Amino acid sequence: MTESLRCYQVNKNEEKEISADLVSVPYNNLPSGAVTIRVVYSSINYKDALAASGHPGVVRKFPHVPGIDAAGVVVESDSDQFTVGQSVVVTSYELGVERWGGWAEFIRVQPEWIVPLPAGLTLKESMILGTAGLTAAMCVDSLLHHHITPDAGNILVTGASGGVGSFSVSLLSRLGFQVTAVSGKHALHERLIKLGASKVIDRLAIDLTSDKPLLKGHWPAAIDTVGGFLLSHLVRSIQPHGCVAACGNVGGAELNLTVFPFILRGITLDGIDSAWYPIERRTALWQKLATEWKLPDLDSRAKVITLDQIPETVESILEGTHQERTIIKIGAE
Ligand SMILES: NC(=O)c1ccc[n+]([C@@H]2O[C@H](COP(=O)([O-])OP(=O)(O)OC[C@H]3O[C@@H](n4cnc5c(N)ncnc54)[C@H](OP(=O)(O)O)[C@@H]3O)[C@@H](O)[C@H]2O)c1
Repeated sequence: MTESLRCYQVNKNEEKEISADLVSVPYNNLPSGAVTIRVVYSSINYKDALAASGHPGVVRKFPHVPGIDAAGVVVESDSDQFTVGQSVVVTSYELGVERWGGWAEFIRVQPEWIVPLPAGLTLKESMILGTAGLTAAMCVDSLLHHHITPDAGNILVTGASGGVGSFSVSLLSRLGFQVTAVSGKHALHERLIKLGASKVIDRLAIDLTSDKPLLKGHWPAAIDTVGGFLLSHLVRSIQPHGCVAACGNVGGAELNLTVFPFILRGITLDGIDSAWYPIERRTALWQKLATEWKLPDLDSRAKVITLDQIPETVESILEGTHQERTIIKIGAE
């Protein structure tokens, strides 16, 4: 086995200044765990951008290797569930948050976090989806579970140009739903139509000033990746017995609501947590993403960068100007 490996490492000095760099470290620096994986692809999500900038809500120990997603090939295994040479996917749990993440040539994790790469997906496609695609699938699954069917009318998706948002638009469209995308990026409205939205609304044109406990019921259901005022507005604007699957907080963490949408309209606000999503359900959703939910244009949906190109992508995500799903090519296939 190699003596050293390259990884993107975030550090905090005694003055509490954060720095991040591509470095070479001893192979023995890998954390403990039963399965070692040579990483072929990782990806960049909003949470990774926070980790790469040393955000205290995401990273508590330094040095830290971000990367909540990794796909690659098993090179060492003390688990009878996984064999050397097997292609696998690891997303979330503590990967890239509490623990050494996927922005490295190798990761080492416990078998309970690993999903065998399903037939029908390449390693590259699995990372184009990554946590963003899995979370979108969980949101869609939530709406289906709450009896929202394609004949319900237009489903609203917020943060639609982002990773979770854009996969939500495409998955809903793939399953026959009409989708209205909400996006703050006017230049991407045409692309959202191509991804499957039937209509796009400018995020900044939505009037969020009303503090009425209930608003006119516009939408049968919604997938919200933004949170804050927008989520509060949505919950009050959903039709009776509708559902909002909420996964994000880019627009704020506060939620100003009364109980009335829930007790007078029977609205469900379903919280989506992909980090600790049980492995059996996770594996089943990956299976769907590889088969009946597979998006036909996956390979063309992401920009591919290398480990040394991470900083500019992180910056654009934190500025809210990032435009394209981005994956990181780390090792040979
Ligand atoms: N709960 C979970 O398990 C889970 C899993 C994955 C992600 N998430 C969360 O979901 C959210 C989206 O993640 P992502 O990876 O899709 O991020 P992303 O790719 O950076 O997309 C976020 C999108 O939100 C919109 N946006 C950005 N800044 C905003 C602001 N200040 N106010 C309102 N909208 C804003 C933008 O879309 P438009 O310009 O098109 O509006 C942006 O493209 C994040 O909060 C992330 O932490 C949660």
